[in-house]
Amino acid sequence: MSDWPSVSFRFSLPTKVIFGRGAAEDVAKEALSLGIRVPVIVTTAGGSLRRHGHIDRVEEALSKCFQDVKVFDRITTNPTTELVDELVNYIRVEGADGLVALGGGSAIDTAKAASLVFMGGGRTKDYLLGVRKGKEALPLIAMPTTHGTGTEVNKYAVVTDPELSAKVAIVSRHIYPKVAIVDPSFMDTLPSGLSGATTFDALAHALESYLSKSVNPLSDMFALEAMKQIAWVYRGMKDGSLIWGSPGVRDRLAWASMAAGVAIDQSRTGVLHALEHALSAFSPDLHHGLGLAMLAVAWARVMERKLPERVAKIVKIFGGREPEEFHELISDIIRVFGLEKSLRDYGFEEEDVDDIIENARTYLGALLSNVPGGVGDEELRFIVTESILGR
Ligand SMILES: [Fe+2]
Repeated sequence: MSDWPSVSFRFSLPTKVIFGRGAAEDVAKEALSLGIRVPVIVTTAGGSLRRHGHIDRVEEALSKCFQDVKVFDRITTNPTTELVDELVNYIRVEGADGLVALGGGSAIDTAKAASLVFMGGGRTKDYLLGVRKGKEALPLIAMPTTHGTGTEVNKYAVVTDPELSAKVAIVSRHIYPKVAIVDPSFMDTLPSGLSGATTFDALAHALESYLSKSVNPLSDMFALEAMKQIAWVYRGMKDGSLIWGSPGVRDRLAWASMAAGVAIDQSRTGVLHALEHALSAFSPDLHHGLGLAMLAVAWARVMERKLPERVAKIVKIFGGREPEEFHELISDIIRVFGLEKSLRDYGFEEEDVDDIIENARTYLGALLSNVPGGVGDEELRFIVTESILGR
């Protein structure tokens, strides 16, 4: 235990987890047991969940027990405080009393934030900036359709305030979903680009948790488990024996994503997420997982110098030997998962480096300092500059 700064933690996961193919059929029973009378399905605007029949599936399952099922299908990527306010207003107007969030992190986080704001009153902005805290939340069932965020099992809801260009998390013990229904069959239809990006998000959660200054035996256990599952998929895809649709891949990744979600509930994320949130605040169309991937090679170079012992353990899980191989490993994972893009492809130039760092320092200082020894401006400048140059 010598590399733990302290061994002391509290663990309580107030979320009931129902995991497995077919778990979605339990949604009505769970909503009833939460005392919900008028549920709202909160889901994405893009249409792919509708096209693949996932929204109908949940709507039909709920309709067996509920006469009145509402559908709020206006969720977009990087949801804003206005979108949460819109959902809060919708819940009020429609007389709903419980939420079923179906989608990726954007849908679930919008629903989590709205569940708190609805009960506490006021504007979402106030909760994001910590002016209001909230004491209770509407009951919420989270049904992830991607294997990335892990938000179905933690206390964070990431929302963007477009006026301030601030993408930050509302952190509240009241917004743990009451139930997480993790049904990997929803993920079978995830296109390959999103499969890679969301898997990388889950990997980033596991890595950042394991390399944070807030580690404990419990967060390590979940983070290492997530890494092992993702390493299995990475190795199979690298040698050509697996594709995203191979039996077992989605199920393992759904579990990995959830496990990493518990890991960051304990120990939070760090520098990589702080910088990615700053990027997304300036470029709202950027997918979170892809943004993380674009920063990750340079970040790995910094971390392998900072925490060589822990990094060596990570490298071994993925089949390597030395901590110095970490950035090459990350680069190869990015290649295998089809995420090879640079920040330049999204319009970022070297002259933006200071703005990105200042945004992260202003709004995400808690994540920047969640690394043993902290992180200096030189290191941040190195990560962002190298990432813009695609190195
Ligand atoms: Fe994330």
